[in-house]
Amino acid sequence: MLKKIILTVVPLIVVMGLIGYVFFNESDRMETFQEKQEAEFIEQGALVYADKCATCHGTMGKANLCYTTDGQQIGCSGRPLNTPDLLCGDPSPRLAAVEWKSTTEEYIRGITTIGRSEKGMPAYGKEFIYEEERGLSKQQIDDVTDYILNYASRDFACDPPALSIVPWSQQVSDLPAGDPISGEQHFHVTYGCSACHGDPNFEGSSAVGPWSGNFKHLDNRKADYLAADYVYESILNPSEYISPDCPAGPCAGPPSAMPPSFSVRMSQQDLADIMAFLGVDPQQSSGIEIQD
Ligand code: HEC
Ligand code: HEC
Repeated sequence: MLKKIILTVVPLIVVMGLIGYVFFNESDRMETFQEKQEAEFIEQGALVYADKCATCHGTMGKANLCYTTDGQQIGCSGRPLNTPDLLCGDPSPRLAAVEWKSTTEEYIRGITTIGRSEKGMPAYGKEFIYEEERGLSKQQIDDVTDYILNYASRDFACDPPALSIVPWSQQVSDLPAGDPISGEQHFHVTYGCSACHGDPNFEGSSAVGPWSGNFKHLDNRKADYLAADYVYESILNPSEYISPDCPAGPCAGPPSAMPPSFSVRMSQQDLADIMAFLGVDPQQSSGIEIQD
């Protein structure tokens, strides 16, 4: 009797042990497989990003280093995507600002699919465009979305909350000291100001907006503002006040034709450098509070 029990129970235990062993191993393998697949999607997304998005949103998604396909550095026109402002929080500060009611993932996928053509963000969903070959498949849009979401664990931590955009002071005189040499580079290249405002050394060289050589003389453009206050506000919040004269007639707006996103793309140092290049001294302030 005892022998019989041993003969049935022992193999049973062995078999169950084996099943358990295989099961645990397998679920481990599945997990690594899923992780690998996830990583592959993100990698595919990185390729899509480099091919389609980096010219406007920047090589690292920070909208501060953009190149044409033949390697020329140009001013970035898109908003930063690699930023806690977009990716941290539920809703993140950016999503709260645009009153988006669903997830960050849906937002990125949605904007990438249907675009925001009136603001310069092209659509990529093939169903939304004529030139289908320019578009992306649903899988590619998912991949690039995963890639962008992944900035949040790779480049900064949301928890504890990463420092969001450094808040801009309402006093221009709080800027650090600027360097005109870097400012020249930022004015012409990084932020592409000269495409619209020309070269401050050549009178009348501006194409779209007022000529930049005049910026240092704009005391009293707005009541109680000195040039430094006014230039600072114009860059951070272009639609707050619309200048009267543009090269082709009265300036359009509000909204201003000037990109609204400098306040989330620029560091305080970059702005100080640009002002130094333009000959506008942040310490020459009327002390007025700048509108944000
Ligand atoms: C021609 C320039 C350009 C290209 C190329 C471009 N974008 Fe944009 N994108 C913009 C601009 C400009 C905005 C800001 C629109 C606005 O002000 O609402 C933007 C906004 C976005 C936003 C919303 C960001 C926010 O903070 O609201 C996402 C997400 C985005 N783009 C993803 C992409 C992806 C993904 C690609 C590549 C598949 C891409 N973009 C390619 C110009 C571009
Ligand atoms: C796409 C074109 C464009 C770009 C790029 C651009 N601006 Fe402008 N900017 C304008 C237009 C148009 C106006 C006039 C309408 C208004 O007041 O907003 C303007 C107005 C201004 C004014 C107020 C000028 C006045 O005479 O009242 C300042 C200062 C200024 N921009 C600085 C800059 C700086 C600095 C940059 C780069 C960081 C820049 N802009 C980038 C188009 C542009």
